[in-house]
Amino acid sequence: MLNKTIAIIGAGNMGSSLIRGILNAKLTSANKIYASGTRIEKLETLKKEFGVNITVDNKEAAKHADIVILCVKAYVIRKVLEEMHEVLHKDQFIISIAAGVTTDSMEKIVGKNIPVVRSMPNIASTVGLGATAIAFGKHVHEQQHDIAVKIFEAVGEVVVVGEQHLDAVTGLSGSGPAYIYMVIEAMIDGGVKMGLPRDISTKLAIQTVLGSATLVKVSNVHPAILRDQVTTPGGTTINAIHELESHGLRSMLIDAVATATIRSRELSELINK
Ligand SMILES: NC(=O)c1ccc[n+]([C@@H]2O[C@H](COP(=O)([O-])OP(=O)(O)OC[C@H]3O[C@@H](n4cnc5c(N)ncnc54)[C@H](OP(=O)(O)O)[C@@H]3O)[C@@H](O)[C@H]2O)c1
Repeated sequence: MLNKTIAIIGAGNMGSSLIRGILNAKLTSANKIYASGTRIEKLETLKKEFGVNITVDNKEAAKHADIVILCVKAYVIRKVLEEMHEVLHKDQFIISIAAGVTTDSMEKIVGKNIPVVRSMPNIASTVGLGATAIAFGKHVHEQQHDIAVKIFEAVGEVVVVGEQHLDAVTGLSGSGPAYIYMVIEAMIDGGVKMGLPRDISTKLAIQTVLGSATLVKVSNVHPAILRDQVTTPGGTTINAIHELESHGLRSMLIDAVATATIRSRELSELINK
């Protein structure tokens, strides 16, 4: 239990996931969470589901908080930080999940040596299986490191990286769920093409991706070794692998991560100008 008061500024998809994770992990109680947003009817739904405090006034939410978590889109970050500026102080700390906005930019907007943590979670946080990387700004103390890690551990796995790596994290695990959805979709269609009913094909494709990822994780064995273990000489799998290799599956995925990383870097430069 952290027992801290937490403001979630912009309780949309990711903000709600964090509220759910924080409460499930019992890091703090619902009456110590303040969720803000622009639409009261949306916030009322959150209040009903989680019992948290709600407000359309970001300053009001931040005033109560030990930790202020920014869950708004990147282009709104400056506006919300300026709005909250007068109530923010250096005994609080800020965690941002906004893509591309650097700790340096946020530190300049808030001033007062307020600690800032920057993170890149992904959408799987919604089901507690997120992959989050976090990087620390220059005023963050060790105790705040631990708190930030605990918060994101409530919604999945956490790694701590230097801030210069966050664009690559965005290209890999931030955008990664979209790549895997395409793989699942294509495998479903493959099954359907070969005559499987769609619902059966869907169930098998999803479970195959989930089970394969879980096996890599729990066995701690390199995926290439696991692949070799299921590849019988002269069998079906080696024929499929040859097909995937001839269409460049691995190169395509490496290029996808690289190009998303480069785009993340470009967007970050624009946002922080
Ligand atoms: N979704 C992902 O996979 C993912 C992954 C990693 C990082 N992120 C980052 O997470 C952040 C949020 O993404 P999301 O997918 O959760 O978006 P979202 O569902 O649109 O949530 C953003 C929330 O911010 C609210 N908001 C807008 N302007 C506001 C203001 N001035 N003050 C307070 N709240 C305001 C929005 O309310 P209204 O709807 O009423 O406008 C909305 O509820 C983004 O910065 C994104 O880069 C997202």
